[in-house]
Amino acid sequence: MLAQYYFLPRGRYLLLLFSFLLSCGGTDQKEVELSIPQRVNELMAKMTLKEKIGQMNQYNGFWNVTGPSPKEGNAKEKYDHLAQGLVGSMLNVRGAREVRAVQEIAVNKSRLGIPLIIGFDLIHGYKTISPIPLAESASWDLEAIRNSAALGAKEASAAGINWTFAPMVDITRDARWGRVMEGAGEDPYLGSVIASARVKGFQGDDLSSPNSVAACAKHFAAYGFAESGKDYNTVDIGESTLHNIVLPPFKAASDAGVRTFMNAFNELNGIPATADKILQRDILKRDWGFDGFIVSDWGSLKEMIVHGYARDNNHAGELALNGGSDMDMESYIYLSELESLVEEGRVTMAQIDDAVRRILTVKYELGLFDDPFRYCDTTREKEITGAHEIRAGALDMAKKSIVLLKNNNAVLPLKREGQTIALIGPLAADKNSPLGNWRIAGENNSAISVLEGMRKYGANTIIHEQGVKLVNEIPAFHREVNINTTDKSGIKAAKNIAKNADVVVMVLGEYGFQSGEGRSRSKLDLPGFQQELLEEVYAVNKNIILVLMNGRPLVLNWADEHLPAIVEAWHLGTESGNAIAEVLYGDYNPSGKLPMSFPRSVGQMPLYYNYKNTGRPGAKGADAGSVFWSHYGDEKNVPLYPFGFGLSYTEFEYSEITLSKPELTRGTKIEASVTLTNRGVVKGKEVVQMYIRDHYASVTRPVRELKDFELVELAPGESQQIIFEITPETLQFYSANKKWESEPGTFSLFIGTNSATTRSAHFELE
Ligand code: BGC
Repeated sequence: MLAQYYFLPRGRYLLLLFSFLLSCGGTDQKEVELSIPQRVNELMAKMTLKEKIGQMNQYNGFWNVTGPSPKEGNAKEKYDHLAQGLVGSMLNVRGAREVRAVQEIAVNKSRLGIPLIIGFDLIHGYKTISPIPLAESASWDLEAIRNSAALGAKEASAAGINWTFAPMVDITRDARWGRVMEGAGEDPYLGSVIASARVKGFQGDDLSSPNSVAACAKHFAAYGFAESGKDYNTVDIGESTLHNIVLPPFKAASDAGVRTFMNAFNELNGIPATADKILQRDILKRDWGFDGFIVSDWGSLKEMIVHGYARDNNHAGELALNGGSDMDMESYIYLSELESLVEEGRVTMAQIDDAVRRILTVKYELGLFDDPFRYCDTTREKEITGAHEIRAGALDMAKKSIVLLKNNNAVLPLKREGQTIALIGPLAADKNSPLGNWRIAGENNSAISVLEGMRKYGANTIIHEQGVKLVNEIPAFHREVNINTTDKSGIKAAKNIAKNADVVVMVLGEYGFQSGEGRSRSKLDLPGFQQELLEEVYAVNKNIILVLMNGRPLVLNWADEHLPAIVEAWHLGTESGNAIAEVLYGDYNPSGKLPMSFPRSVGQMPLYYNYKNTGRPGAKGADAGSVFWSHYGDEKNVPLYPFGFGLSYTEFEYSEITLSKPELTRGTKIEASVTLTNRGVVKGKEVVQMYIRDHYASVTRPVRELKDFELVELAPGESQQIIFEITPETLQFYSANKKWESEPGTFSLFIGTNSATTRSAHFELE
């Protein structure tokens, strides 16, 4: 049948059905408008079983446009599969020219010419790198986060990408886990609103716009709960934690219209997530009505054999499809096994059709059938890559991500001139670490360093010494890395420049590849000789401003006890040094708040503010001094810096809370208000946070839970009333009835500057 498609706005299409008209004996062309489901059905009617299975198969990039890469033994086979229509998607093919090359094989050589969907880990920017997601989350600025994702999508889509494996929405309570850098931190509410902002940023209002990419909520589910923070480790959590803590950000992503999900490497309570039918088929696809598709994680079908769950490849294919995985990333299992599994009746044709329908639908939505090369315009790629708008967005996001942890006696901001500043540390002039992990397309050494930023923004004399050397060379992505652990010969020179300096700025932390996938740590200190360097320099000059670059919470007790100022600058991306300099000089007043608690000791892991009270939360009265309560004998229970913590160059004052009424009835609301006043001399932003405690319930509730927040900017002396609305829905949780509901009872409400605030009010729910 001859068919020609024309693209019309809002996903409607025109199909000219010549053969239909011929069969009716007519000679005029008749226009019939088909919806995406109709177009998918038409196409599927033409597909063989093998071609359908091909759509469920995803390969990693293998094709150098100049010829098959000799490094890849199976390049020829992959090429043939593309040409035979046996590949639905590729990942890690990037660049307009390269994507066009593989797309041409799929579209021009295969029988039905179905375009590929091109996936890529666009985690925090494409070539222009924005802050790591954990850092962006510290902004609590949903519009900035949405915009950052949108700019990343713009740059990546110009390079041929039309699908990102982001956002990672895993809740992370254990800083030992390297992938905390990829998420929004420990809180399900903050994680949910950020998940939604990121999905909307990547996908835009119209998926078929060439500037947007399909998003992917990952890793479904509970990957962040790896035992002891060790990547890929076993996850064993109860139903209440799963529903109340882990799933909400996934649900938010689904509600925001995310088009794909990725399952996970981990097993959850004995079942590998890749084959988890309850998660994927029951909760996600049935209860939440998710109509996009689920991709496996890299090779996770095959890993089910190693987990001890699948007998062999064939069994793994059966388990994965029955479990609800629609696309196989790099296990090569669906392609080799599904045909025989259908014949033997161990998976059904209906399951295959459902998976293929989901995949093709997203391809239609992306506009790939209307123009498979719409993301492959090299002129557009040149214009957009590194464009001013994208750099400016990265700088804006970087400034908003910085958290001021300590600032005694207003030592910050720095004077702009007339000072000698000793800039010390392995990361101070480093142009690589600020890019962080997961920046596959980013050029090595392309970040603005702190040294460059400081020289640009101020007129001070800046002298620099590394003190402790960095790693010798940029390590390969898959290697262990550390800050140099064998050579401390530079400490002396660092002390020498510190001695006579007015101020010392020390840039310490983790090398850019020390967090991320496979980068779990058993210690949360400053790696290598950095602590020693810090203490040695302190011995000659106490006026130290510590700037941290890291992908996870660290233990900073010594620094907190001794230093006047600490600035948490994470891995902030391409514009790092500029953002840090603007904050240090006070051109930008920091407003970030921690999205994860910072521990006092690694032994406190996992650490989170929304813990349960237990039956023995403290020893009081006659029992004071007793050991029989939930605590450590050698460390406090509380973190060094709590969730939601962050200072400003100005001072904010909160009034007491006013409640509109003391009792909440069904169908009504309570308004809780505070007045916030800027008591300082500079303009500043504050994240006003509202927490609630449900004192007794059918399933015990945390000591407090974030329920809402507002980012407020005030001029010096200005006041604003902030009003939060509480309805019975605000108080819902996954109850003993196995559903989301609120239960009558007593509640406390807290409004303040971080999760440890004590300003409270109380009300009843009828
Ligand atoms: C990670 C995923 C990622 C995939 C593709 C896996 O190792 O767990 O998050 O999207 O690789 O790069």
